[in-house]
Amino acid sequence: MIKVAPSLLSANFACLKDDIEKIENGKADWLHYDVMDGHFVPNISFGYSILKDVSKVTNLFLDVHLMISEPQKYVDEFIKSGANLIVFHIEAMENKEDTLALIHHIKENNVQVGISIKPNTPVDAIQDYLSLLDVVLVMSVEPGFGGQSFKEIALAKIKDLDTRRKENNDRYLIEVDGGINETTGKKCKDAGVDVLVAGSYIFNSDDYAQRIASLK
Ligand code: DX5
Ligand code: ZN
Repeated sequence: MIKVAPSLLSANFACLKDDIEKIENGKADWLHYDVMDGHFVPNISFGYSILKDVSKVTNLFLDVHLMISEPQKYVDEFIKSGANLIVFHIEAMENKEDTLALIHHIKENNVQVGISIKPNTPVDAIQDYLSLLDVVLVMSVEPGFGGQSFKEIALAKIKDLDTRRKENNDRYLIEVDGGINETTGKKCKDAGVDVLVAGSYIFNSDDYAQRIASLK
């Protein structure tokens, strides 16, 4: 069964609690929380103090997507603030040693761990870590903004990951993020995806439940 993870980035920040209740009642599976630092990506969103407040008003699984430089510096704050899954970008890491240390650190805190790859980053860049991961997040837009259009290059990567997963008996979920709507979501499901992130498609609508259902 496909999981749908509405991205809070497209919610109304002045009414977060209402919007979170609506997606929770609308049968969202996860809540996708986009953290942007104005450095790794050219936009600033929200950080860990807002996550802490959000965690108190929802039972949704908190999927934290860190689009920040030096994620190892801030990861403990996100863990303390209630993250259930922390996804960092491979492009933000300097070397293999730091990447492995960060994966193990997150797991030792009983939080799930994922790595994300930007549209131009090949799956091979994360091959060495796949067996350790709970989630691989394939970006289908350049990270930084909601409302962009889906890049087809993500489909080949989803298929590739699904094949590697079967070959190696790995258990990570494949998640896709950016430009997801009913049509692009269907293509990703056919390619083998497990989790669809959707921001503007869900929140730019009057009926979140209908939009969530249309992705399943
Ligand atoms: C983009 C973010 C996405 C974004 C998706 O950098 O990681 O999660 O909110 O928004 P839509 O679904 O509008 O492309
Ligand atoms: Zn995201």
